[in-house]
Amino acid sequence: MNEHVQTATTAPLFNPLSPEFIRDPYPHYARLRTTDPMHVTPFGAFVASRHAEASLVLRDRRFGKDYVDRTIRRYGPKIMEEPVFRSMSHWMLQQDPPDHTRLRGLVVKAFTARRVEDMRPRIQQVVDQTLDRIQGQGHMDLIEDFAFRLPVTIICDMLGIPEEHREVFYTSSRDGGRLLDPVPLSPAEIEQGNAGNLTAQLYFQQLFELRRKNPGDDLTTQLVQAEEDGSKLSNEELTANIILLFGAGHETTVNLIGNGLLALHRNPDQLALLQANPELITNAIEEFLRYDSSVQMSGRVALEDIDDLGGKRIPKGESVLCLLGSANRDPAVYPDRPDQLDITRQRIRPLSFGGGIHLCLGAQLARIEAEVAISTLLRRLRGLRLDDPENPEWRPTFVLRGLKSLPASW
Ligand code: HEM
Repeated sequence: MNEHVQTATTAPLFNPLSPEFIRDPYPHYARLRTTDPMHVTPFGAFVASRHAEASLVLRDRRFGKDYVDRTIRRYGPKIMEEPVFRSMSHWMLQQDPPDHTRLRGLVVKAFTARRVEDMRPRIQQVVDQTLDRIQGQGHMDLIEDFAFRLPVTIICDMLGIPEEHREVFYTSSRDGGRLLDPVPLSPAEIEQGNAGNLTAQLYFQQLFELRRKNPGDDLTTQLVQAEEDGSKLSNEELTANIILLFGAGHETTVNLIGNGLLALHRNPDQLALLQANPELITNAIEEFLRYDSSVQMSGRVALEDIDDLGGKRIPKGESVLCLLGSANRDPAVYPDRPDQLDITRQRIRPLSFGGGIHLCLGAQLARIEAEVAISTLLRRLRGLRLDDPENPEWRPTFVLRGLKSLPASW
């Protein structure tokens, strides 16, 4: 504890890829909120650490994505020739209306609360099958062996990826997270991003051919048909948004399950409470989202001059980084021990899924996956304990916050 306090008072205010920050960003957030709530980084972005400003920016139409101009300002005009940036520029996540409205409208029906609730039995089946396979081992990595399989299987189902193609996705690396961090990428990281993007493009082009010949009841078929229609989406948009759905749909949910399990085991009273009252799981998931969000930041660009945001003037074209994880612990919104995990906390409205027009499309799916995964695990492996809950190994990324591994025994 002392070590954390000391780190937080001597380190630069916002250095999100430093090992101390990755290990525990929360003392740094507290310092930002109290000393400089609209901090300006050395590369010129505003950092909104309080709930009030972060939440406003996400919802206010005077802010948008402006992805291409923003990326060119940061890296220079040639950057859009890099396949990975070109592909990301077509993500609905990076679009402003009207393109955002058009692209989101093509897939939103697959994610309604009703459609997702209908997937619950399948989610339960995947979790049970995973545990059937490993229950006899007495030991596993909760990330690789347990959390990872579920979201990958479910997004493969939704995209109509045939069973026989899936093994490669279960074993592929999870190194793409740096692309989202607000710290410029090195040439080597850009190369790595390009390689991953081109591999994904090649695979999905094959899948599109398959679904053109053999249409199915899946999102890929739906989008391929929309592309063939000619006016709804281009081929580049089709490929980019399938890649987005595939990526957004699993890394984040793996991390919700992993961060939630870590938080529970570091708070044995809360673990015991949940074990004794399994019906608390729905509220517990909201608290896990609030307490240690698997997405820590969402950025916007001012589309016009903003006279006053938290006491600062934001000129048109400047970026605001909304610190979701910090907003989630802001005492102005959570006056009762915001740094404490409390699965019975009431009126939790975490900013973890963002807000406004880009509000996470998969929020309800992620909630149900985490609910089924964590409650089934606790029910079936009663004596589960983490090997080393105080020294977990975090992935070295900031925006996507999650564990590299979480070894456990029972
Ligand atoms: C715990 C799990 C998840 C978290 C914390 C999360 C978080 C977020 C956040 C913060 C945003 C908004 C980003 C912004 O404002 O710029 C977002 C958008 C999005 N998420 Fe999620 N997400 C999760 C799971 C999922 C899943 C399971 C899917 C799909 C299967 C998904 C698909 C998307 C998509 C497509 C968008 C873009 C929406 C748009 O731009 O309109 N997410 N997510």
